[in-house]
Amino acid sequence: MSDELKSNLSQPSDAGPTAARSTMPIWIIVLTLLLLFFGAVYFDHHSGWFDKQVYAPYTSADQLALYQPKSGAAAAQARGRPAYEAACGVCHGSDGLGKLGQAPPLAGSEWVAKDVASLARIPLAGLNGPVQVAGKDWNLSMAPMGAGMSDADLAAVLTYIRESWGNKYGAVSTDEAKTARAAINGNAPSAADLARMTPGERGHAVYQKFGCAQCHGPDAKGGVPNPNAKTAEQIPSLIYVADGYTKDELINFIKRGERDIPRMNPAGPEPPHFMPQWGPIITDSELDDLAAYLLSLKPKGENLGF
Ligand code: HEC
Ligand code: HEC
Repeated sequence: MSDELKSNLSQPSDAGPTAARSTMPIWIIVLTLLLLFFGAVYFDHHSGWFDKQVYAPYTSADQLALYQPKSGAAAAQARGRPAYEAACGVCHGSDGLGKLGQAPPLAGSEWVAKDVASLARIPLAGLNGPVQVAGKDWNLSMAPMGAGMSDADLAAVLTYIRESWGNKYGAVSTDEAKTARAAINGNAPSAADLARMTPGERGHAVYQKFGCAQCHGPDAKGGVPNPNAKTAEQIPSLIYVADGYTKDELINFIKRGERDIPRMNPAGPEPPHFMPQWGPIITDSELDDLAAYLLSLKPKGENLGF
């Protein structure tokens, strides 16, 4: 390396930039403080103030809590209402006041005030025959309209009817619903049993589960009295439905039900029993099995030739 280069490296020329000290202009400080101030105001209004749970559009933990799904009894009530409307409201009414000739009231009913096991028995096993509800006599029939519900839905519906329309009997837990169901369904087939069965056998289990037997008889031969019904004042037998319905027609009829039962004597009273609307209650695969069962009932070799 030449001497000249060496001296150039070790002795920087004095041509480089120099920094002169001077005071910061006051406007920058003011601007910075203003930005900080408005930033903080913005932050305060648009976030939960360092709360990691709170994001836009919520501005505080209180507001967030207001919009949260309710827990416990409130959740069961929020969930119970739609389930009630689908499975019970058609007869007992959205107002819980029942309907004349169709179903007694749940508002102010002593049945709703009973212990959970006794109350749960009604939607799980049905209710038949003369009962008194809030001082009035009823003599109708309710099929186990809740038998197809999950324990959680059943608990929610029961909580809903116990805590609505002025009733105040407290919430029902999923465990309580489960216990009540186990007490009633002790001999119902398990999921493993059902998987082994033929569609017709499963259909028979569905027939029992939803209390079709309660009105149409244990072997679907009918015969339960239905005063002033055109069908011989009895609930009809189902063993010949294969002659009158295709499978689809049968399923559609069961889904729809029949509220208006033709009368034997048109001037006489309305027959007390009608065919419930099962659409919202029985699942499609259960309906399929149910139809297979009913269509298999026609006694073999009995073909009338038309
Ligand atoms: C197809 C109409 C119908 C549907 C749907 C129905 N019920 Fe009923 N319910 C009745 C009838 C009819 C009675 C009275 C039975 C009798 O006279 O023995 C009754 C009685 C009751 C009673 C006892 C009497 C009272 O009014 O307090 C309770 C409790 C009850 N039902 C709850 C329910 C619940 C819960 C559901 C839904 C899961 C439901 N019902 C769905 C028709 C219905
Ligand atoms: C509360 C009583 C009651 C219950 C429970 C009931 N039914 Fe009915 N069902 C009736 C009545 C009453 C009729 C007659 C309707 C008519 O005369 O139009 C009927 C009619 C029928 C018919 C038409 C029969 C025909 O000859 O056209 C079928 C099919 C039927 N029910 C199936 C069922 C099934 C399946 C269940 C169970 C999921 C069931 N029913 C539960 C009362 C009931």
